[in-house]
Amino acid sequence: MSKVNKVKELLEKHNITLAAHYYQKDEIFDIADLTGDSLELAKKTSTLKNPLIFCGVSFMGESAKILNPDIPVYMPRLASCSMARMAKREKVEKNIKELQKNNIDFIPITYINSSAEIKAIVGELGGVTCTSSNARKIVSWALNQGKKVFFLPDKNLGQNVAKMLNVTSSVIGENNWQEADVICFDGHCSVHQLFMPEHVEFFKERYPDIKIVVHPECSPEVCEMADFVGSTSQILKYVKEHKNELMAIGTEFNFVNRMKRDINPNIYILSSTKPECPSMNETTLDDLLKLLIAIDENRAYNEIKVDKEIEKNALLALNRMMELSK
Ligand code: 13P
Ligand code: SF4
Repeated sequence: MSKVNKVKELLEKHNITLAAHYYQKDEIFDIADLTGDSLELAKKTSTLKNPLIFCGVSFMGESAKILNPDIPVYMPRLASCSMARMAKREKVEKNIKELQKNNIDFIPITYINSSAEIKAIVGELGGVTCTSSNARKIVSWALNQGKKVFFLPDKNLGQNVAKMLNVTSSVIGENNWQEADVICFDGHCSVHQLFMPEHVEFFKERYPDIKIVVHPECSPEVCEMADFVGSTSQILKYVKEHKNELMAIGTEFNFVNRMKRDINPNIYILSSTKPECPSMNETTLDDLLKLLIAIDENRAYNEIKVDKEIEKNALLALNRMMELSK
């Protein structure tokens, strides 16, 4: 029996749902029951009644477990997003103290790409999580309460959203950072930083009609030059609506390559290097099969567990997001 058929057989035998983020390898993505961007997957997995295997990065499996604590959630690999790792507890707490010392009245907003521990700190302070597809709505909700926003960990997403909302932004520690409406933690994505203004210039010079499409984790300079900026599912929608146009896309390789395979062959990667996310690429079909065999033999591993106190406060931040993105 092929590995794919064995995986399908074991998923069915144990009544397990398989969820995969768009950045997963095709060998995983193509057999998943649930696919989507971070927000869609958080929503879809929150109502499941049966066990879940989540193929993505750790913060996604953790969020699924916090939002749906009664089901077992497994991950074939505990792959950790590099941006989430940048937001270390000590550094975040130091930033918060700095904001308080400067008498800044703020609401903390943490991108879902952060650990449960950071979500808990934010939740306890009355803050909220966001994803790239609802960041604009959530930042605008916070500003409408007459507060500033402390946005973490992604300074690019924070600054790009501020620009979309026509408000000012800064990175904590920069000159006059206290003056800005959206004050960002100094973190970024190691994959999306690969896309440079020079890449946009190259494609625009060569193909004047080309559409430049990027994820909001790219730098503000790159986003400013793009024709469309959106989360992974928003990019997918845009690509489907512009099937016959030449495009250069700035986001993770597996996802872009799949859209080129399935929707529009006239797609370029907006980079001179292959923008693979090492964390998303850790999980293979072999890992998935190995985990399923272990579950079948009653020696399951990598079941996501979250400390109860952390879970309680992180849930506050996640639930506020779910409420705001209805
Ligand atoms: P999305 O929310 O767009 O799926 O993005 C997740 C992510 O990690 C992008 O790097
Ligand atoms: Fe994290 Fe960047 Fe990978 Fe997304 S692409 S999971 S932000 S390292």
